[in-house]
Amino acid sequence: MAVGTSLPWLGLLTLAVFDSVCYANAVLPRDAVPDGYVAAPYYPTPHGGWLASWTDSYAKAEALVAKMTLAEKTNITGGVGIYMGPCVGNTGSALRLGFPQMCLQDSALGVASTDNVTAFPAGITTGATWDKSLMYARGVALGQEFRGKGAHVYLGPTVGPLGRKPLGGRNWEGFGSDPVLQAVAAAETIKGVQQQGVIATIKHLIANEQEMYRMYNPFQPGYSSNIDDRTLHEVYLWPFAESIRAGVGSVMTAYNAVNGSACSQNSYLINGILKDELGFQGFVMSDWLSHISGVGSALAGLDMSMPGDTQIPLFGQSLWKYELTRSVLNGSVPLDRLNDMATRIVAAWYQLGQDKNYPPPNFSSNTHDRNGLLYPAAVLSPIGQVNWFVNVQADHYKVAREVAQDAITLLKNDASLLPLSTSRSIKVFGTDAQVNPDGPNACGNRACNKGTLGMGWGSGVADYPYFDDPITAIKKRAGDVKLYATDTFPSVPTPNDDDVAIVFITSDAGENSFTVEGNHGDRDASKLSAWHNGDTLVQKAAAKYKNVIVVVHTVGPLILEPWIDLPSVKSVLFAHLPGQEAGESLANIIFGDASPSGHLPYSITKKSTDLPDSVANLRGFAIGQVQDTYSEGLYIDYRYLNKVGTAPRFAFGHGLSYTNFTYDATIASVTKLTEPTPTPRAAKGPTPQFSTAIPPASEAYIPKGFNVIWRYLYSWLPNGEADAAYAVGVAGTKKYDYPAGYSTTQTAGPAAGGDQGGNPALWDVAYEISVTVKNTGSKFPGKASAQAYVQFPDGIPYDTPVVQLRDFEKTAVLNPGESVTVTLKITRKDVSVWDTRVQNWVVPNSDGRRFTVWIGEASDKLFTACYTDSLTCETGVKSPV
Ligand code: NOJ
Repeated sequence: MAVGTSLPWLGLLTLAVFDSVCYANAVLPRDAVPDGYVAAPYYPTPHGGWLASWTDSYAKAEALVAKMTLAEKTNITGGVGIYMGPCVGNTGSALRLGFPQMCLQDSALGVASTDNVTAFPAGITTGATWDKSLMYARGVALGQEFRGKGAHVYLGPTVGPLGRKPLGGRNWEGFGSDPVLQAVAAAETIKGVQQQGVIATIKHLIANEQEMYRMYNPFQPGYSSNIDDRTLHEVYLWPFAESIRAGVGSVMTAYNAVNGSACSQNSYLINGILKDELGFQGFVMSDWLSHISGVGSALAGLDMSMPGDTQIPLFGQSLWKYELTRSVLNGSVPLDRLNDMATRIVAAWYQLGQDKNYPPPNFSSNTHDRNGLLYPAAVLSPIGQVNWFVNVQADHYKVAREVAQDAITLLKNDASLLPLSTSRSIKVFGTDAQVNPDGPNACGNRACNKGTLGMGWGSGVADYPYFDDPITAIKKRAGDVKLYATDTFPSVPTPNDDDVAIVFITSDAGENSFTVEGNHGDRDASKLSAWHNGDTLVQKAAAKYKNVIVVVHTVGPLILEPWIDLPSVKSVLFAHLPGQEAGESLANIIFGDASPSGHLPYSITKKSTDLPDSVANLRGFAIGQVQDTYSEGLYIDYRYLNKVGTAPRFAFGHGLSYTNFTYDATIASVTKLTEPTPTPRAAKGPTPQFSTAIPPASEAYIPKGFNVIWRYLYSWLPNGEADAAYAVGVAGTKKYDYPAGYSTTQTAGPAAGGDQGGNPALWDVAYEISVTVKNTGSKFPGKASAQAYVQFPDGIPYDTPVVQLRDFEKTAVLNPGESVTVTLKITRKDVSVWDTRVQNWVVPNSDGRRFTVWIGEASDKLFTACYTDSLTCETGVKSPV
């Protein structure tokens, strides 16, 4: 094996001194947050292992961890340093006991930074399918690819951001601006991924709703998302709860703070909400370089530091690893906490069956070459084979294409312009119609908007193995097609009346680590207007042609007012972010091989100011901590628009088809909700027991003759330092300044808890609605989306949104005249509110007032009302929206 150098990193050396000064006192006093927003202390971290569904894995983990030395335990709880291995995150190992380095890999839409993988449609596209089975099938394919590449942990799905702010940079990684749509899509993804033995990661806990000012740095804390308890539970936590209920193995904390306390060390969020109320049994990792305190974060419930470094990486410094070893020896971090951290990680590994035949990583995120540096961040690194070019694509292009196709959302189709006959004369405008001429992967991390927009930018991307672009697919179908690959309207010959213009426009966004065309991750420069003067391109095409179709590749909503009502703009298709399968999926819709069946995963307003300032605008620079206060409470997206009575241009859930459907419903009561709160939870089961005595210093000694790689993060201490720390620990002379409310006594847990996701009675099905969906058209087959929205009773002591999505089902293809019956379920949780005083989910109809479950095909197309008191449904009544 040869040895190479990675001198570029040396340029950063001057920062080393600065780095060590900054971290001498890492926990800074919190900035003030507005009154009423609290991150109450919650200690200790509940031990993992108290649920029957994890008992076997915990028993095995207990046996393995009991054999680990102190340094082995601290080794597996932290990464070995950024760029110190094949994956974006690489933990330490306990190889003596057969526990490997774990490979943690982006992204939510495909195995990142490597070859021979599928670049799946993004989360927002998947959400727009409103199809549970496709969400699951995409998860299965993702899981197979991560496993095939030897990645233990899939760093997805993303449900935070939830999409509160239309300008937010990473909304497209998630599934839409509604807690239930996000929750269902995340849970289906997790099931699909984890059934392949890959640990999924639900991220980012929580309220990472804008990109700018998200990160703590030595000069400024990350912004604080200030959320009240009810809003947290009913909106932002909902997808996390469903993900945990689906058995997700890991959780990633967010960069920002919540109510003034950084998410990576927020004991209320991690110990209280996540590990106690939601019964999370897996492990919690920090987002990359967001680990800002050693002892504090351990006590607050963090289990894994990623990628292991301090905030300023590449100097071989960590707040854990050797420091965590020291903190246990000197008594600051109770061994009990470290045992729980290690056991949670090992239990998740067993729970997913990774102890049996799990392949090691066969790729490198750092280079596409066969051979490369094994530890690129080291000054001197051995060189060896790092890429085996394993092809994991199988036939996953099929599910990728199906998702891309079924997500395409027809917003408008005047005079039934679509579908087109292949004999039409077609002019195509816009650079988005064809693949980036420099190649689909020309921009690293897809941090440019050139050619067809298949995904946003940042860490949430994958390399395209190829790119099926729209123009190629359109030309394959139709004979008379001309492309004007320009975003400035060109000079064109005078068109005939029935010529068709297809105009491609885009809007991009991504992670704050890159700025693209002035947008700092969030769409702070472009706002909600199409990029590259797309609005003008549409207007000019509309002035020339009588039949204009607009195709939009976008990360989220856009303001369409500059052209949506122009008479020649007859059809508008939102194709979202299709990934590699952008072409055929679109051509199938344009030429009528399939009817569009996507529905909007967010509302499109007429003006950005139709939403309240707290949601419509990004928080700008502030001296000290930027405060992002959720003053709108529960009222985001359609919840807000309905509350204030503002009609959107296109509502959440909207999506046309080439055919029409009717929805007839009946309602049945399944479980009677006799009490306002769920039946009391069961007591916690037993958890692993370990000795809690401070281990001997020798467990931290660096093995004699070990060949240390400079800047690689180890968990050993020099013998003298280990001895000194141990002496302090056993003498009990060093007293760590524990936070207010600190305790080491395990508790029974809150009433709202009891199983993964919360009290299992919350998922008692209260009502079942059978919806018979019929294709009433005569010409086109199509798939329909049946959506159920709950309207709470009038006169209850809680303010509730007018309607809230609670379940949905997509039909298979229905031929004209054909019908099918789907079942929508309404659970106890669906008809509850989070009562902040009771600290539980409460059904507010103790006097028997009725809930109405509205059935329809969009949040503003609610055709049938089903009543929970009379158990009847009626069609033709006026809906409240
Ligand atoms: C930061 C991103 O926020 C997170 O989503 C990603 O998984 C990590 N970086 C690793 O790249």
